Amino acid sequence: MNRIITLVSLFIMGCSVSAQNISLPAPDRRGGKPLMQALNERKSIRSYQDKELTLQQLSDLLWAANGFNRADKRTAPTANDRQELELYVTTKNGVYFYDARNHLLKEVKKGDYRAQAGMQDFVAKAALNLIFVSDLSKVSNRQYAYTNCGFVAQNVYLYCASEGLGAVVRGMFDKDKLSELLNLGSNQEVLLTQTVGYPN
Ligand SMILES: Cc1cc2nc3c(=O)[nH]c(=O)nc-3n(C[C@H](O)[C@H](O)[C@H](O)COP(=O)(O)O)c2cc1C
Repeated sequence: MNRIITLVSLFIMGCSVSAQNISLPAPDRRGGKPLMQALNERKSIRSYQDKELTLQQLSDLLWAANGFNRADKRTAPTANDRQELELYVTTKNGVYFYDARNHLLKEVKKGDYRAQAGMQDFVAKAALNLIFVSDLSKVSNRQYAYTNCGFVAQNVYLYCASEGLGAVVRGMFDKDKLSELLNLGSNQEVLLTQTVGYPN
């Protein structure tokens, strides 16, 4: 009997731990508009509906951004294959770290912190904001860190164009506020942000 109670308790504990993370469905790697059409439709959008993305869209977006498309390599290149870029997202429900290896979102904080992701009004309303963080201890110089970041941002733009979503990359953000929100270490730095959502 005691063994059963222990097993039930462990199961409940396991559920509550994993409840903080969001398991993403497998990305749809075959869908989307033809590349030339997506390029033709890529643009920056600054007016959004307050409407959440589906879990499948979130999965496809993050995988397109910087997921693994081979055993140990990603959809975006990095100088010397350092893979130092980390993606965080703010949604209506919380702040999360994208664990690309396991394709899941790890909760950093519960709650709606979208407004803290930038200085423009639409940031608080759009479905999500991506925060690009570089682990500078892994990369040989800042120039490479920023360059690597640009590839990921363009992947996001193209996914959004393909999916009929809006996006805008943003250099306007409060670096200190975001570092605090994400509990970043001294080797981590916010390089860029990007808003994604349903356009008005
Ligand atoms: C590095 C970088 C930083 C940017 N920062 C902002 C920003 O803080 N806010 C904003 O609304 N747009 C920002 N943009 C978007 C540009 O304004 C936009 O790309 C440009 O006006 C061209 O428009 P398009 O993207 O529709 O072609 C940024 C773009 C880049 C590449």
